[in-house]
Amino acid sequence: MRERLERVLKSARDEIGRAADASEVEALRIRYLGKKGELSQVLGGMGKLAAEDRRALGEVANRVKGELEALLALAVARVEEAALETELSAAPLDVTLPGRQRPPGHRHLVSRTLEEVIRSFQRLGFEVFTGPEIEVDALNFEALNIPADHPARDMQDTFYVDAPWSKAPAGQVLLRTHTSPGQIRAMRSRPPPLRIVVPGKAYRVDSDATHTPMFHQIEGLLVDRDITFADLKGTLTAFVTSFFGADRRTRFRPSYFQFTEPSAEVDVSCGTCGGKGCRVCKQTGWLEILGSGMVHPSVLAAGGYDPAQVTGFAWGMGIERIAMLRHGLDDLRSLFENDMRFLEQF
Ligand code: DAH
Repeated sequence: MRERLERVLKSARDEIGRAADASEVEALRIRYLGKKGELSQVLGGMGKLAAEDRRALGEVANRVKGELEALLALAVARVEEAALETELSAAPLDVTLPGRQRPPGHRHLVSRTLEEVIRSFQRLGFEVFTGPEIEVDALNFEALNIPADHPARDMQDTFYVDAPWSKAPAGQVLLRTHTSPGQIRAMRSRPPPLRIVVPGKAYRVDSDATHTPMFHQIEGLLVDRDITFADLKGTLTAFVTSFFGADRRTRFRPSYFQFTEPSAEVDVSCGTCGGKGCRVCKQTGWLEILGSGMVHPSVLAAGGYDPAQVTGFAWGMGIERIAMLRHGLDDLRSLFENDMRFLEQF
């Protein structure tokens, strides 16, 4: 048995010395020291020996076991070091290499235009108020003097939505067709004076070179004592020069909206021809940028304000439209086609 142990040790020395990686070392550990390994197999026969032979053999077995353990530990250290060595020489890691460049990206033209318009009005003391994109008929139409049978509803032909969560009667919930219901919500949320802009998305069944089913508007509303049409003109003229440039002129044209009286459309002088008339302004010298007017008394009342105490003016402006005018775009839809070659220009 002693010789068998010596033989086991000898072959283990050879084999463990040759082991090339961690899994080979582990396999040898199991083979020699495992429960059914070589060592256990030899020692399994010890029971049959006389007591003193057993003691003597026990000593040898312990020495062999210790030596096997030492051999395996050495082998583990050796293969680990070798693995590290290969890793270091195979794929040298240069920690001084610059990181991978990603193009920085930027805000979409619509977002930037909207933010810029908001800033212009913030400088004039307006604050931002937001309303929901899913709106009720009562605020999108009724409170703005557009009753159920009014033809203006056709002009804004609309996306109605099923809204089981809403308290509004069936068929009375829609994607807002303009930001104007924000006027009512703002007035109902606090007493006058009020000086707000309502930026956001609006939706209509419309699609051509100058209309998309989803678009952005910014609504404005100022209500206080003794507000007159002169305040409207002054405010919107200040906006035009701050947004389009000090050399641009403003024109107020009589118009009609259900929720303002009197109403005016606002034009800015054409930046391409300086107002002389060209292709961009269709030879008129002017570009229309927004609708506005003095808030109708019944709209003030719908907002919970007393039209005998306060007056106000309001306006609504299409963001894509003014972005188009400013950058000379000829198809509004290109803003939403996600062609990076187009978007990256701005
Ligand atoms: N809501 C109108 C539209 O979408 C725009 C508008 C016109 C808003 C006049 C106003 C206003 O506040 O006074 O066509």
